[in-house]
Amino acid sequence: MKILIINGPNINMLGIREKNIYGSETYEYLLEYCREEAEKLNVEVSFFQSNHEGALVDAIQEAYGKIDGIVINPAAYTHTSVAILDALKAVSVPAVEVHISDVSKREDFRQISYVRAACIKTIAGHGIEGYKEAMEVLKEHITKGIA
Ligand code: DQA
Repeated sequence: MKILIINGPNINMLGIREKNIYGSETYEYLLEYCREEAEKLNVEVSFFQSNHEGALVDAIQEAYGKIDGIVINPAAYTHTSVAILDALKAVSVPAVEVHISDVSKREDFRQISYVRAACIKTIAGHGIEGYKEAMEVLKEHITKGIA
């Protein structure tokens, strides 16, 4: 089972950016953590991060026919991007939306998620553990689909 973890703008700045909101773990640590958790779950994991909306759309399109599930933290594009929503719908690869912070308790402009409509679940406010939970959700979902 192949899972692709996609992170949007500024997620590469984890450990530097707003530590009170996103914690002090770095992006490199997040990758390492996800690799370890993926191994425990017996899934194959790959990663993509970009600060550019179109590059995120390209990565989603490239997943078509190759990837079984997508974990996506579109970061700020969550609240603005119809293009990312449409890409997820286009490939119809099962996807789980993740946010490190609890967006529901933050600014009004973070209350809209365009991508949510194309995701089987949204996990927010669980820190980087949210990525592990998202992989678990996908594994269960995909396994059920296959069975
Ligand atoms: C975020 C929440 C977004 O509102 C914000 O723009 C981010 C990160 C999160 O993981 O909590 O960059 O997606």
